Amino acid sequence: MTGSSSSDRENDGSKQDWLDSRLPVRRFLTTQFRSFPMPRSASMLWTVGAMLSAVLVLMLLSGLVLAMNYTPTVAGAFASIEAIERRVPSGWLLRSMHMAGASLFLGALYLHLFRGLYYGSYKKPRELVWLLGLLLLVMTMITAFAGYVLPWGQMSYWGADIAGKALASIPVIGPFTERVFLDGSQPGDGTLHHLFVLHFTLAFAIVAVVGLHVAGVHVAGSGNPSGVEPDRKGSLPFSPYFAIKDAFGVAVFAIVLTAVMFLFPDLVTESANYRPANPLHTPTNIEPEWYFLPFFGMLQAIPFKFGGLVASVGAVVVLFLVPWLDTSPVRSARQRPLIRLSMILLVAAFVALGLAGQHHMEGGWLIIGRCATVFYFFHFLVVLPFVSRRERAVVGDAS
Ligand code: HEM
Repeated sequence: MTGSSSSDRENDGSKQDWLDSRLPVRRFLTTQFRSFPMPRSASMLWTVGAMLSAVLVLMLLSGLVLAMNYTPTVAGAFASIEAIERRVPSGWLLRSMHMAGASLFLGALYLHLFRGLYYGSYKKPRELVWLLGLLLLVMTMITAFAGYVLPWGQMSYWGADIAGKALASIPVIGPFTERVFLDGSQPGDGTLHHLFVLHFTLAFAIVAVVGLHVAGVHVAGSGNPSGVEPDRKGSLPFSPYFAIKDAFGVAVFAIVLTAVMFLFPDLVTESANYRPANPLHTPTNIEPEWYFLPFFGMLQAIPFKFGGLVASVGAVVVLFLVPWLDTSPVRSARQRPLIRLSMILLVAAFVALGLAGQHHMEGGWLIIGRCATVFYFFHFLVVLPFVSRRERAVVGDAS
């Protein structure tokens, strides 16, 4: 009995050696996932990356089927979406999954980003992980915008129109950029074709960048809420401890996604987009999806269009500079009372901008929009460098 089981084990071992000496799949999975050391104190916020990865797979699969039934022309786009909703088997389900998935993906992305900002995950040695994450944010935003135009409803058309006009406000190259983007002087067949190709290809490029991003996490090691890098005693293998935690996070995310799809679909849809695009009728209130509202708020809070464009693009650009704006040796906001306070105000400003973006920018909303825009940049360009300098001086004096 013992003899046969040990020969079985030898056989198993030689099969694994055969594969590993040709393609080290098993070795890779063991070192990078099974025994990968995770800080014991990594909280549920460290499961958001797994949620994002899972929903990305869902978006690609549902998107592939949608693309097979979609027609990227002005004459056919709206009708093909109607056909997906009514005639393609389970088409309504896949579309609903794709729309709710996009909204929750961006929600989770913001949570992941603010976690990084709060716990200082952008600091040495994770600067590249941070920059690749931001590249993913930009790619996701472009993909989501392009996807919103594809159904060719009222909001799709007027959203593309506003984006074109914002580009046209760039000095010198503006009109040229607008024409390239729209492929003409107003949204039309060319715009749809550009955005369909962009939506489709960027989705796959995102998968490649996620691979680099996660590889970066695995080289630098995972961070944790305390901001102190753990030693061997402070770590546990990824499997089973964090694999179960990630699976739990993904399951909760799946429940929320299902609830939004089946119980609250209005949360992620704009009723005006169920009316076909009409270039002769401007809707009274043109607004983007909720996840773009804070940036839309900045666009509107500045009195001249190009200034608004600089502010809303600058709001993303400034995030790329964070690892060099914050040079403090202290990592987590848990140990940085001033940063903690400023982070709370930053989140409040971001939410306020989102609310302001939903309203006509006048009176109280205009004041709120402007104050929140100023505070957003104040946090990154003044508070972070100033507090860092003070903390560097204190740590320097103590050592
Ligand atoms: C497609 C979008 C993204 C996916 C699928 C993704 C996935 C992941 C995964 C799986 C992890 C490891 C587990 C975790 O810490 O949660 C991670 C870590 C990280 N991500 Fe992302 N991410 C995405 C976007 C972003 C964005 C927009 C940022 C912000 C700039 C970002 C910044 C980070 C950082 C700094 C870490 C390391 C955190 C630490 O260990 O302390 N990621 N990401």
